[in-house]
Order: sequence, then structure tokens, then C-alpha cells
Amino acid sequence: MQEIRIYGDPVLRKSAQEVETFDERLNRFIDEMAETMLVKDGVGLAANQVGEAIRIVVIDTTAGEEPPIIFVNPHITAASDEMAEAEEGCLSLPGITLPVKRHLRVSVSAQDRRGREFTIEQAAGLLARALQHEIDHLNGVLFIDHVSPLQRTMIRGKLKKLAKTGSADG
Ligand code: NI
Repeated sequence: MQEIRIYGDPVLRKSAQEVETFDERLNRFIDEMAETMLVKDGVGLAANQVGEAIRIVVIDTTAGEEPPIIFVNPHITAASDEMAEAEEGCLSLPGITLPVKRHLRVSVSAQDRRGREFTIEQAAGLLARALQHEIDHLNGVLFIDHVSPLQRTMIRGKLKKLAKTGSADG
């Protein structure tokens, strides 16, 4: 299992590089990401979160019932005007959850683990939210960047503690 990088680690603020080589090494890395996400009960994981600033996201909205969806070099091609707010958390910010406004639906194009292009049209619900959250990670953006200044102020202490100790509790 890979080590999850916690808030304060500079790799979480890096803009990730496009993947150009689809080889065995990449596939092993993707498998490890999928395993790490499963063990950590995550809905999604971006490569930045395991210390590699490369454009890979894995998402599982089925709690391990189905294989995760792998997105290499993903980008959002369309987003609904309609927004939805829901509670979000992040494996890199343990102990912090906040309501975040996201597009209700998004379309995404990406490559699979072999480099074949695919698209997901009009993803909705948790998948739409996870896609936006994880693609943000590839651009060095965290969900706390989307919350109001007041909410940001309210978690300032927790963030400081996280960056210092790796835990927001206690
Ligand atoms: Ni996250």
C-alpha cells in the first residue's frame, strides 16, 4: 500500500504532469493506487496524494463492489450550470469534512491504463462530485479551497495541526 500524503505536503499543491508512457510500470502504479484507495475506504484517489505529481485518478463509488474506474490524463469537457452542495472529505485531510458546491453533472474525457481514449458523458451524483474533487487534486487544488472564508477560518486550527502532526484530532 502507498503512503497517503497529508495536507502540508508540497506535492498536494503541485500541478501534475501528463502521462505519456503507458507501460507495465504505470500499470503497477495504478494497481497500487486502486489497492490503497480500497484499503483506505476512499471514493477517489489522485496520484498527487501518493506522492507522484502525474495525471492519474482512480474512483470507486461502489465501496469495492465493482472495480475502480481509472482515469489517465482526465479533463472535464462540459459542466452543468446547475450546482449541488454536499459534504466532502479527503484522505489527505483526515478529520475535516465541509459542504462543497460542485457542478451537478460533468462530462469527462480521459485515457484508460493502456492509453485508449474514453469519455463519460453527463456523470451525475457521487461520480460527478468525485471527478471534480480528484481532477482538482491534479491541479494542486484541495476541497478546502472551495469553501467560504468563514468556514476556512473555522478550520484554520485543524489545518495548522494537520500540517504539523498529520492529524487534526486531539
Ligand atoms: Ni481528496
